[in-house]
Amino acid sequence: MRALLSLCALMCAAAARPSARHPFNAFPADTESEEVRSAAIKRLLEVFGMEDPPAVHGHKQPPQYMLDLYNTVADVDGVTRDPALLEGNTVRSFFDRLRSEQVEFRFNLSSVAKTEKILTAELHLFKLRPQAALAFNRHHFCQVSIYQLMEVSWSNSTEKKLLSSRLLPVHSSGWEVFSITPAVRSWMSDEGSNLRLHVVVRTLGGSQVDLKLIRFASGRHHHPSKQPMLVLFTDDGRQSAALQSSDSEDPSPLPQPPVSAPPSRSARSLDYGEDVGVSKPCQRWPLYVDFEEIGWSGWIVSPRGYNAYHCKGSCPFPLGQNMRPTNHATVQSIINALKLVRGIQTPCCVPDKLHSINLLYFDDDENVVLKQYDDMVAGSCGCH
Ligand SMILES: *[C@@H]1O[C@H](CO)[C@@H](O)[C@H](O)[C@H]1NC(C)=O
Ligand SMILES: *[C@@H]1O[C@H](CO)[C@@H](O)[C@H](O)[C@H]1NC(C)=O
Repeated sequence: MRALLSLCALMCAAAARPSARHPFNAFPADTESEEVRSAAIKRLLEVFGMEDPPAVHGHKQPPQYMLDLYNTVADVDGVTRDPALLEGNTVRSFFDRLRSEQVEFRFNLSSVAKTEKILTAELHLFKLRPQAALAFNRHHFCQVSIYQLMEVSWSNSTEKKLLSSRLLPVHSSGWEVFSITPAVRSWMSDEGSNLRLHVVVRTLGGSQVDLKLIRFASGRHHHPSKQPMLVLFTDDGRQSAALQSSDSEDPSPLPQPPVSAPPSRSARSLDYGEDVGVSKPCQRWPLYVDFEEIGWSGWIVSPRGYNAYHCKGSCPFPLGQNMRPTNHATVQSIINALKLVRGIQTPCCVPDKLHSINLLYFDDDENVVLKQYDDMVAGSCGCH
């Protein structure tokens, strides 16, 4: 409910302030700064692994499962609570596209990149209570089996492959989760093989059961919050890619802050205020990256923004342990103090510990995605 309210608040805020989509129009609109602005936004999108901001047409309520998952892995600012909670860095949810009267489902996975490593895939079905007339049935348990429908290459027929099977109490209700990882792996390697998932319910004796006895909510007849859903845990391999690219960028002559948010007004005013006296020792300062100011509140569900922090301050001789200096920085500050070599400056105040953040957002297909991004928040600063 709280998430619903905050989502609504985002939408309302965006609707009430159409200019929020182009916040930088407030600055001098000469073509040069316009170019810098769009280049900066494009670069920021790349940091978030996207080429273009997802197009969002009207708003849907994100699945409760995804909201709960987000709140489990991330704190209120989106910072990862425990990196061990998620195996990969991406969780995607898909709604059934078939909306069939039968217990058959089909999911369109075209938004998953071919390079993403499929870790686990789950089918989430909401089990309804049996209809009243059948409540006194003699069966207490039924066997529920999920099958993948597959084309048989040498004939026109389809074949069923068992993916997952479980005993369920007839009278239970609530979410049931079935593992369907092999099916999703085969769909990813051949899109055309994605026919359907089929659910079969049998008695313990093995005879097929009336589907009124064990019922699952469908996208067609039941509340959207109970829609059949596929949840896919993947890894996009970005962490290693980021490490490689930052290695290759190392010869860059200027020290680069690891996260350069576009110039938000708050960051600017901070800078102006503090550049006057640079004598404060190296320490961590707030740097709030506001997704609404950037114009992204339409597709990002959570967080609304996050504190990336930044490092600023002097690193004079002698560097105490609280400055967390490297040996190299200590020697450099000594050389600087002794003026042994000309043109050697004091060491730089930079982030020396970085944390990941999580984003919950709508992708181009309006599927809700949770993604983890490494090295986004300065955890501490040091003289390096
Ligand atoms: C899957 O979704 C994509 C993008 O929305 C669409 O272009 C494609 O036709 C869909 N595929 C099927 C089989 O519906
Ligand atoms: C394939 O289907 C067509 C008609 O749908 C039928 O005539 C043909 O015999 C089938 N082939 C096989 C190998 O089953």
